[in-house]
Amino acid sequence: MMNTGLIHIPYDRPSRKARQTFDWAYDNAIHADQAGFTEMMVAEHATQAWECIPNPELVIAAAARDTTRIKFAPMAHLLPYHTPASLAIQVGWLSRILEGRYFLGIGGGAYPNDAFLRGLPTDMSENHGRVRESFEIMKQVWKREPFQYEGQYFKGGFPEEQEAIQVGDEQHKMADYSPWGGKLEVAVTGLSPESPSMRFAGENGFIPVSIFSGSKILKRHWEIYEEAALENGHVADRSRYHVSQTVLVADTDAEAKKRAMEGGIGYAWKHYLWPIWERFDLLSGFVADKGARPEDVDLEWICDNVWIVGSPETCVRKLNELFEFCGGWGTLQVESHDYMDDPAPWFESLQRIVDEVAPHVKLPEPASTAAR
Ligand SMILES: Cc1cc2nc3c(=O)[nH]c(=O)nc-3n(C[C@H](O)[C@H](O)[C@H](O)COP(=O)(O)O)c2cc1C
Repeated sequence: MMNTGLIHIPYDRPSRKARQTFDWAYDNAIHADQAGFTEMMVAEHATQAWECIPNPELVIAAAARDTTRIKFAPMAHLLPYHTPASLAIQVGWLSRILEGRYFLGIGGGAYPNDAFLRGLPTDMSENHGRVRESFEIMKQVWKREPFQYEGQYFKGGFPEEQEAIQVGDEQHKMADYSPWGGKLEVAVTGLSPESPSMRFAGENGFIPVSIFSGSKILKRHWEIYEEAALENGHVADRSRYHVSQTVLVADTDAEAKKRAMEGGIGYAWKHYLWPIWERFDLLSGFVADKGARPEDVDLEWICDNVWIVGSPETCVRKLNELFEFCGGWGTLQVESHDYMDDPAPWFESLQRIVDEVAPHVKLPEPASTAAR
């Protein structure tokens, strides 16, 4: 069965207070867990008013106490902007707190202002190199063996631990912040058409994660990922692919459309996402898929043709058509939105996605069959 994840960016109206944003993220985690979502990703942004969670790990830690099944990931920790060894230690500790319900999302960063804040080039030309170097250091730290490293962008090391021979020697012992169970699952974001991040994910056998932006980019992401995975001896399994989408389910198509267009989804798209998607040239993929004329495309067109919005039957049909068209993926990552003022329709939708939509989506063939 298709897995259902929630990706919490959070796309809250900029007028929201920090406390409201935090509580809404927490409430989403609780409801997603109860509804049977397999995972929740929480984004990290330092400067965008609409994407206003700078520390996803705070939400994850709070929600971990009151959830039992759902897995959490920061999506993504932006490796160019953290001291790698500090992040490795913090990630390792959180993975231990969650005891198997944590995986690590990593990314290069989307916004020039986030780079500026750290004194880095705003063309973000350093970001991919920084991700690779940072991750090498993080892996070394998790090994807990002495090393010292001075690279192009970062420094790091791991001290030698003095042997503890008798009881009193334990004062010398170092805490173990290596990942829980000795292994950490890693997911990587990919966004641009020729995504270097997808190559990085494939090379390392990590989970690839894309935002839905039309079939052309998704197909290219998978090609890049698959090629890099196979070159490096990994299986490229579509059931591990995660793709995020706007989704809202209600009793009827008309009711779902109303809740999407007049609720948090429509508001965020109108006031924030439309211009952003134009800037990243992501709207053109939708237009091309449907053979539409750009001048005919407005928000209602996006609702009807791009979002997965409707009755459960309509959402199943839309997803099956999309999977047929693009190759499909194992986890649908539902993009969460600001329904704080009237949460019931949003939480109803989360429940219905798991109960009435996910079981009826036809999954891609397993990698072994597809490769023949
Ligand atoms: C699912 C998903 C989640 C993302 N989350 C974040 C985030 O939390 N913060 C951020 O600055 N960028 C985020 N990004 C964008 C990435 O940081 C980055 O811009 C992108 O992966 C670069 O990809 P490229 O190698 O395809 O150009 C996200 C992208 C995707 C697909």
